[in-house]
Amino acid sequence: MRLGFQNPFRLPYLHINADMNASGNEDKIEHIRSACVIGLGGIGQALIESLVEAKFLSLYSLSRREKLSVHLTHDTKYHHHQIQAYSESALEEVASKIGKLDVLICTLGTLKNETGSPEKQIGALNEAQMLHYFKVNTWFPSLVLKCFWKNLKSDKPATMAFLSAKVGSIEDNHKGGWYGYRSTKAALNMIIKTASIELSKKAPNLKLYAIHPGTTDTDLSKPFQSYLPDGQLRSAQESSQYIVKNLLNNPAPSGSFLNWDGSQLPW
Ligand SMILES: NC(=O)c1ccc[n+]([C@@H]2O[C@H](COP(=O)([O-])OP(=O)(O)OC[C@H]3O[C@@H](n4cnc5c(N)ncnc54)[C@H](OP(=O)(O)O)[C@@H]3O)[C@@H](O)[C@H]2O)c1
Repeated sequence: MRLGFQNPFRLPYLHINADMNASGNEDKIEHIRSACVIGLGGIGQALIESLVEAKFLSLYSLSRREKLSVHLTHDTKYHHHQIQAYSESALEEVASKIGKLDVLICTLGTLKNETGSPEKQIGALNEAQMLHYFKVNTWFPSLVLKCFWKNLKSDKPATMAFLSAKVGSIEDNHKGGWYGYRSTKAALNMIIKTASIELSKKAPNLKLYAIHPGTTDTDLSKPFQSYLPDGQLRSAQESSQYIVKNLLNNPAPSGSFLNWDGSQLPW
C-alpha cells in the first residue's frame, strides 16, 4: 500500500514540526529521532506517515502484514519486520534486531471479529470471544511491553504508548455494553499503570502511556459508524497526527491515560 502525502484529510493547523512540542515551544524535541510502530492497521499505517512527517530519522514497523510503500522524506530510513503471529519468540527476535528507540507505539486491538460482535448484554458473554479480546487487546500489548521496553533509550526521555480506548475507562463508563472490549482495554490500562510503577526505578527516563486515539475511520470502527453523531469520526491520518503531536513532550507523568488531544482521561 502506498501512503500518499497529499491526502484530503490533512489539517493545515495540525502540521507536525519535530522542533515543536505539545505546547508549541521550540525545545527539547530535537533528540526524538527513532520510532517503532507495532501493528499496521488503519491507525498504525497512518502513524508511519505522521512519524516521517515529524522527521523521525529511523523508523521501524512490525506486523503480520507486508511492508508499506512509504514516501520517505529527509534522511529517514524505514525497516519493516513481518511476523506470522504476535508470539513472544517472534517479538523477542525483532527486539534483538532493531536499534534503540525514542518512541514506540503499539496499535494492536480488536473490537468486532470472527468470535462475534461486542456483547450488549450479560447473556451474550461467551468464553471464546472473551479470551480472544483478552489475547489481542491485553496480552499482545503486554508482550510488546515485556519484549521491547529495554529497546527504549535509557539516557534520554523516551515514550512507549499503547492505543487503548476511552470505553476502557471504568470511571467514564455511563452507557454499559461492549463487555469484552471495555474489560480488556481496562486490563491493558492496569498493565500500563502497574509497569509504570516498576519501571519508574529501572528506567526513570521512560514514560508509559495508554492513549485513546478518538473515533477513527478504520476497519475496526466501520461496523459502528452509522451510530455516531455527526462530526465525531476522524480520518486515520488526522488521528495519527494528533497522537504524534500530543505524545511528544507530553507533560503527563508516566502511567497516564491520555486522550487524543493530549489531556488526561480518568482510569
Ligand atoms: N478506530 C477507532 O475508532 C478506535 C477507537 C478507540 C480505540 N482504538 C484502538 O486503536 C488501535 C488501532 O485500531 P485501528 O482502528 O487502527 O484498527 P485496525 O485497523 O483494525 O487495526 C488493528 C490492529 O490490531 C491488530 N490485530 C487485530 N486483530 C488481531 C488478531 N486477531 N491477532 C493479532 N493482531 C490483531 C492488527 O495487527 P496486524 O497489523 O498484524 O494486522 C492491526 O495492527 C486499537 O488498539 C483499537 O482498539 C481505535
